Amino acid sequence: MELYIKNVDPQTIQRELIEIYKRAYKGWEEYAYRMDRSIRDYIKWLRKRAPEGFLVAFVDGKPVGFIAVDYNWIDYSGEPIGEIHELVVDPEFQNRGIGKRLLLAGLDVLQRKGHKKFKLWVGKTNTKAQSLYKGFGFREEELRNNWIRMVKEVNNLK
Ligand SMILES: CC(C)(COP(=O)(O)OP(=O)(O)OC[C@H]1O[C@@H](n2cnc3c(N)ncnc32)[C@H](O)[C@@H]1OP(=O)(O)O)[C@@H](O)C(=O)NCCC(=O)NCCS
Repeated sequence: MELYIKNVDPQTIQRELIEIYKRAYKGWEEYAYRMDRSIRDYIKWLRKRAPEGFLVAFVDGKPVGFIAVDYNWIDYSGEPIGEIHELVVDPEFQNRGIGKRLLLAGLDVLQRKGHKKFKLWVGKTNTKAQSLYKGFGFREEELRNNWIRMVKEVNNLK
């Protein structure tokens, strides 16, 4: 299996990305957009916020997952944050370390933009993603409705 991760304009592979997103969130719809149109607009929004932060994982040339990180994000407290908006891996390709590789690549983009503090929202019952983030040194910061805010500071680098 040949894996590589690169920054792409999602519009060029929009259909594939929508299908990956839908398959990845199957059974977790409460945490996701459901309609193709909403997913397409969401992907567009992600790219627009931070063009260099949209990274796609390819296996043997085929897209299998993506991460969207945002180096322009200002948190509600007014603090600039390296925000991780989205991370998905096609179920068929999960549990092979691709999620970790994408997260590592996303954090690298944020660090190169000067960020030392990273945050994300994760579904309260999404323990798999939570374990992944905890393994990277993220800790729980707050709970809001069905979402947990997680934070990691660069001096906690593992
Ligand atoms: C979360 C997601 C991106 C992980 O992708 P992945 O490619 O399977 O992840 P990896 O193979 O790199 O696994 C990374 C870590 O996940 C955790 N993990 C994997 N399977 C797990 C399981 N069944 N239970 C708990 N933790 C698990 C482990 O911490 C694992 O690290 P380890 O291998 O050192 O134990 C993927 O499951 C996904 O797309 N989920 C649906 C979308 C989603 O929830 N995204 C997160 C939004 S905040």
